[in-house]
Amino acid sequence: MTDKPETRAVSLGRKSDEHHGVVNTPVYRASTILFPDYAAMSGPEPEYTYGRRGTPTTRSFEDAISALEGAARTVTVPSGLNAIAIAILSVCNAGDHLLVADNAYGPTRTFCDRTLKRLGITSSYYAPGDDIAPLLQPNTKAVFCESPGSLTFEMQDIPALAKTAHAHGASVLMDNTWATPIFFQPLQHGVDLSIQAATKYVGGHADVMLGYISANDSHAARLHQTHGDMGLYASGDDCFLGLRGLRTLPVRLARHQETGLKLARWLEARPEVARILHPALESDPGHALWKRDFSGACGLFGVILKPAPEKAVAAFVDGLAHFGLGWSWGGFESLIVPAHIKRTARSFAAEGPVLRIHAGLEDADDLIADLDLGLERLRRAS
Ligand SMILES: Cc1ncc(COP(=O)(O)O)c(C=O)c1O
Repeated sequence: MTDKPETRAVSLGRKSDEHHGVVNTPVYRASTILFPDYAAMSGPEPEYTYGRRGTPTTRSFEDAISALEGAARTVTVPSGLNAIAIAILSVCNAGDHLLVADNAYGPTRTFCDRTLKRLGITSSYYAPGDDIAPLLQPNTKAVFCESPGSLTFEMQDIPALAKTAHAHGASVLMDNTWATPIFFQPLQHGVDLSIQAATKYVGGHADVMLGYISANDSHAARLHQTHGDMGLYASGDDCFLGLRGLRTLPVRLARHQETGLKLARWLEARPEVARILHPALESDPGHALWKRDFSGACGLFGVILKPAPEKAVAAFVDGLAHFGLGWSWGGFESLIVPAHIKRTARSFAAEGPVLRIHAGLEDADDLIADLDLGLERLRRAS
């Protein structure tokens, strides 16, 4: 098998010979799966036993993802947030401590601070980029990271972090939704559980909620067990959409990257903008790490405006023709949202209001013209 992502995304997980030549594995909707006879029910477990434990559709998606991630096993779940929760629950027990990156996705923090706390698992936060060694406690069971992290897009040295965590006997879990396995393969850089909100780029069309976790050898059995014990299942319809999205993922990402960088560079030169948060820009403090470990960037980045009243930011955002206001990203369409940054390890200093932009698949010049008019509205309302 080639290592070219475009070819792999098109070919992996296809089982046409098992489906009358149909190119992509069709949707199986199943709860009951019939066994041929009594002996089959009592003997070694066949591949498919009951809907919740997988169908050819879910298996095709999981097989393709495992190959892309270089994983021993992948499990699918109903959302990215659920993938985060299950990954953590598969390694942490009551009495354990979890060390979490301060720029992790907001609901990840809420899960840690609320549900994990209720289960007797404590969490504390580290500033991305800091040495985690002094923050590891005797009962630290895992380190949860996200790089680049939500809203601020700060990069972390994942191989170095994994080395430190492993020396302490802690597992490393990573939310890799920004890069997807096309641009960064966490398990090849020391991570034990690679987490993906497939809702975003893998699905790619803003029409599915889906998550997955890919495990290395040492974490696969416990992950599979936890997934089974919790009764989790991602539907055949949703896995089919994940599989269909996967076929065009590298091509879409290349375009998201190109447009995102074009918008980021254009915005960076604007007088209304204080700073751009995008690790693929040479000016970004995380650029060297991004260049060393990642093979590309998606279309999601941050913009810090110079100080401006809220009504001016609203005037900028509200009149945009091509940017929707929605709490997501990774689909074909451009989006813009205000970024409310919550940090507890160390505060994040922003010069002015922060916005998060998702560069979609529209024409880049149309998007720039739209932003240009928006900045004019911002100036007039300031
Ligand atoms: C970085 C990151 N991880 C995970 C998630 C959660 O994914 P889902 O919405 O599928 O639960 C999101 C959603 O916005 C996200 O931005």
